[in-house]
Amino acid sequence: MLDVASGTGEGTCFLVEEFKCHAVGIDISQVMIKRAKEKAQKKNLNIDFKIGDAHYLPFENNSFDVVIAECVVCALNKEMAIAEMIRVLIPGGFIGIHDICWKEDTPNDLKVRLKAIENESLETLVGWKKLFSDNGLENCSVTDKSHLMSVWMESNKKNLGFTGQLRIGMKVFKK
Ligand SMILES: C[S@@+](CC[C@H](N)C(=O)[O-])C[C@H]1O[C@@H](n2cnc3c(N)ncnc32)[C@H](O)[C@@H]1O
Repeated sequence: MLDVASGTGEGTCFLVEEFKCHAVGIDISQVMIKRAKEKAQKKNLNIDFKIGDAHYLPFENNSFDVVIAECVVCALNKEMAIAEMIRVLIPGGFIGIHDICWKEDTPNDLKVRLKAIENESLETLVGWKKLFSDNGLENCSVTDKSHLMSVWMESNKKNLGFTGQLRIGMKVFKK
């Protein structure tokens, strides 16, 4: 399995523990790769974390049976990143992404503002599905998990603690 933009390796470690699979994680940030390696070592997991750009994956064609990307594709050149995920996937393999979506009726000025502030361009659920099927993938499906947002926010708050929340608040305020 390849985890594109694996960050601190939380998801990669979880999947390796859960499914006992062989995994590779790439991320553009040296700091993230270092943290991911430390995490895997602590958990005694053998995961190959290395620096790489999602737009130019450092792997041969048809290298992985599963490719995932969590919370990142909206911040990338989506067409390039998706084409790269497909290139390194074996025929018949599986691609899974987890990302944020616009509601169908989101006003355009909100989209423009998010792009300006965060440089993120989201899709609607249908839009995400289309991006993958237009690139030749079959059996594409999308699932709305927005009902889990409040649970996720609560657990994030706990994990971040007071100083973590303050740090993020300051960042948002500055922007
Ligand atoms: C929001 S984090 C998500 C991390 C992880 N997937 C997770 O869900 O915990 C986004 C990650 O994408 C990485 N990233 C951003 N641009 C990238 C790129 N062009 N190629 C690879 N990684 C990238 C960042 O360094 C960061 O670790």
